[in-house]
Amino acid sequence: MTQDELKQQAAQAAVDEIEKDLQDDVIIGVGTGSTANMFIDLLAKHKHKFQGAVASSEATELRLKEHGIEVFDLNEVTMLDVYVDGADEVTQELNLTKGGGFALTREKIVAAVSKKFICIADASKAVETLGGFALPVEVIPMARSYVSRQIVKLGGSPVYREGVVTDNANVIIDVHGLKITDPKDLEIKLNNIVGVVTNGLFANRNADLLLLATDDGVKRFE
Ligand code: 5RP
Repeated sequence: MTQDELKQQAAQAAVDEIEKDLQDDVIIGVGTGSTANMFIDLLAKHKHKFQGAVASSEATELRLKEHGIEVFDLNEVTMLDVYVDGADEVTQELNLTKGGGFALTREKIVAAVSKKFICIADASKAVETLGGFALPVEVIPMARSYVSRQIVKLGGSPVYREGVVTDNANVIIDVHGLKITDPKDLEIKLNNIVGVVTNGLFANRNADLLLLATDDGVKRFE
């Protein structure tokens, strides 16, 4: 199967997972990226069964609205029942690297407000140790050089992602060369650097359920 076919299977598995719990008052957190887009397109078939969604990016907000799904500001919502999103790397411990599509900060906020985080991914995303995919860090623009120097002290090789401005008007530094054996600790250390908004490690609030699409079917990890 192609990677896109596997992404589609993971997206369908997420819809199957949440469909039974859809009710008039349910608001769903929705992630960003190509796998999340497939989820949105499949979820749209059930749009009359739930109240609406909270989007993790402007792109996702647009796609939800194009399907006629109502999009709520997160400040109007106390708690989301479920958040569905893709990832750039996943481990069997349900730790993730995210932010390839530079939506990591809003994704992390929506995940924090959700009771259950369902990660959907194709098999190519599964790794034993995070770090093969360069770790995205969202940074306040004036702090870019300072933050890069601090990242070097932590053993990483920072590369400024030129031409990218996040939905929060910040920049992205991709950190190469890390073998992330303690993702919880590194997530906190990076977030403690002044000027960092957040980084793409989802370890302290990791996924609750991983639906990993493989050639042998969709595997569940929880
Ligand atoms: C966006 C993300 C995405 O979830 C991640 O990049 C995976 O994207 P895709 O589903 O297109 O492979 O974190 O910031």
